Amino acid sequence: MTHERTASNQAALGASLQDLLAPTLELATWFLSREDELPEPELREPQAMRARLDAGLGDSGHEAAEAMEKMRAILGQTPSSSSWRFLNQLFGGRVGMASAAEMLAVLPNSSMYTLKAAGAQVLVENEVLGRMCSKVGFGSGEGSFVPGGSSANLVALLMARDRAAPGIRDSGSAGSTLIAYTSVEAHYSIPKNAGIIGLGRKNVRLVEADTEGCMIPAALEAAIEADLAAGNKPFFVNATAGTTVRGAFDPIRAIAGVAGKHGLWLHVDGALGGSMALSAEHRHLVDGSELADSFAWNPHKMMGIPLQASVILVARRGSLSASLDETADYLFQADVDEWNPGHRSVQCGRRNDAFKLWAAWYHLGDSGWDARIGRQMALARTAAAMIAVDPELELLEQPQSINVCFVVRGRSSEDVCDLLDHDGIIKIGHGQVRGRRGIRLVCVNPDLDKTTLKKILDEIKLAGRSLAVEGKKP
Ligand SMILES: Cc1ncc(COP(=O)(O)O)c(C=O)c1O
Repeated sequence: MTHERTASNQAALGASLQDLLAPTLELATWFLSREDELPEPELREPQAMRARLDAGLGDSGHEAAEAMEKMRAILGQTPSSSSWRFLNQLFGGRVGMASAAEMLAVLPNSSMYTLKAAGAQVLVENEVLGRMCSKVGFGSGEGSFVPGGSSANLVALLMARDRAAPGIRDSGSAGSTLIAYTSVEAHYSIPKNAGIIGLGRKNVRLVEADTEGCMIPAALEAAIEADLAAGNKPFFVNATAGTTVRGAFDPIRAIAGVAGKHGLWLHVDGALGGSMALSAEHRHLVDGSELADSFAWNPHKMMGIPLQASVILVARRGSLSASLDETADYLFQADVDEWNPGHRSVQCGRRNDAFKLWAAWYHLGDSGWDARIGRQMALARTAAAMIAVDPELELLEQPQSINVCFVVRGRSSEDVCDLLDHDGIIKIGHGQVRGRRGIRLVCVNPDLDKTTLKKILDEIKLAGRSLAVEGKKP
């Protein structure tokens, strides 16, 4: 729709999108041309950033051109996660087709609760969810897009709770202490979610992991037996497929045996490593996923889809709506439930996260994903091999997947990472591996290659050399 700009409506409507398309394209082109530059080190301090960017809001507005220039200044001080210098998180790199589709998805600005509101976007969402279900072995399952892996884990916990204590959704009380199990290496969203839904963070048992960081099924069994003996009610087991720091995979099949024996809900947190289901070579890492009740998977991690793209998949149709459906006769007025995804979502209004994933998948096909995962895994092996032969570095363990953990010999990993960030060189984080704090290099960006890996390791060593032994900057 083209709005005619008159003096009287200009103040209320602002510039039209049509008028902003050309300057937006110019800004996007500019951003892409310089995204390997991290924000200026001097602007790391919030006060300096505030003073320089002068982004305050006030009574009177600004001309469109001025607003575009202000956006340029802000974007110029925003790290791009597609840069080789950005290694801080479990996402990185860009699938161009997905970013293009994301930019287009804002135009219809669909809300994904009903077919009536979102039209063909529901079709592509169902297509993507169906494909993902088939990849994890949920042949007759279904799913829902959620705002992140933490939320996917929350929905899983909710469904498990409602199965174990059917009255709790209405009456709010379980009548017995429900106990959830996950490994010591699991993501923090598991206890956090237990707090959110009122199960109690203390009622999450952190089961022992082996030296590789994988949950020990016998330890799980023992923990369940102890709770049963104490009169508690075990109900939920989370197996992590790709732990946050070490990229370790819990043995899903063996854990399913234990969970099945006790009738517990089995959830797989595949936020990071669920994408292994797309790789012929590495699929074995999620072996047994078809035995689970639910599966969380973040395409915004290894699949390179722009944030956010996360799903919760369930093995049996109806599991989601059993915990999430409400009647809303102002909203669900037409079409069968299958085409009204709002019945299966925590959210009411929900942004369209499926279109970008569908567009990338349509473009790349299963074979494109297979190649992508293979490349990420190969990069991790290459990085590990480079670290292992470098006398200045120590590899803390052989990577199980794409996370490579190591130290600069004699230096604090925390200080090395802080210095690299402070000086605007690289953004990279650190975590615990068997009681030692190591630098975590996540090889999730398939645009990296041997040359960039060498550049990264050289910068890390340089930072290490400028630090005192196990101390702060001299
Ligand atoms: C294993 C695991 N689960 C869940 C999450 C949470 O995902 P999100 O950041 O999308 O909420 C993460 C995030 O890193 C993760 O590593």
